[in-house]
Amino acid sequence: MKLPYIFATAVMLASFNANGAGNEEAMAGESRMAVKEFFGSLKGELVGAMKAGGPVNAIKTCNLKAPEIAHMISNKKGWDVARTSLKLRNPNNAPDAWEKRVLEYFDKRAAAGDDTAKLEFYQVVDGNFRYMKAIPTAQKPCLACHGGKVDAKVDAALQDLYPDDMARGYKAGDIRGAFTITRKM
Ligand code: HEC
Repeated sequence: MKLPYIFATAVMLASFNANGAGNEEAMAGESRMAVKEFFGSLKGELVGAMKAGGPVNAIKTCNLKAPEIAHMISNKKGWDVARTSLKLRNPNNAPDAWEKRVLEYFDKRAAAGDDTAKLEFYQVVDGNFRYMKAIPTAQKPCLACHGGKVDAKVDAALQDLYPDDMARGYKAGDIRGAFTITRKM
């Protein structure tokens, strides 16, 4: 499998190419900030809803707030900011071909022992700056809704909203998915 090598080379080129390299570095930095904002807002909403009414209550929060926060940040920045995964809960979050390859690359890096909290990848594709950052699965609170064994009420609430839910069976440390940003150059 040659992909990891190709990706590593692309990152090196992105870093060392004199043409616009600094620009891409700067855009990667801005992307990291946007991801921090997205993750921070969502985690705040999630933890608040879990405290207020447990995971069944928090499912509604994820269902409504996750797309809402993504739209809010996308509009504010004028970029496309979203979450995606290889095992989807919401089919609206499906990866395109480029995102799928990067997600597969993240899984390979994780299997090779890389720190999943630091995995990111960016590249200029068809006149867009594209950035992805892996989202590791934490024991708490993630496994309550993404673990192998979820509470019966959580299970029923998830099946109700997401009849094709694939986002189960994760263990702490697995990559649950990624933040993904597309931005016109
Ligand atoms: C209270 C239940 C709940 C908890 C806890 C939870 N999630 Fe989710 N997760 C959801 C729901 C519901 C969705 C679908 C959101 C949507 O409709 O966009 C989702 C979607 C996602 C997605 C988007 C990709 C997809 O499958 O649609 C990612 C990535 C994700 N969750 C990661 C996490 C991580 C990481 C944690 C722990 C920090 C976590 N989740 C905790 C319920 C939960």
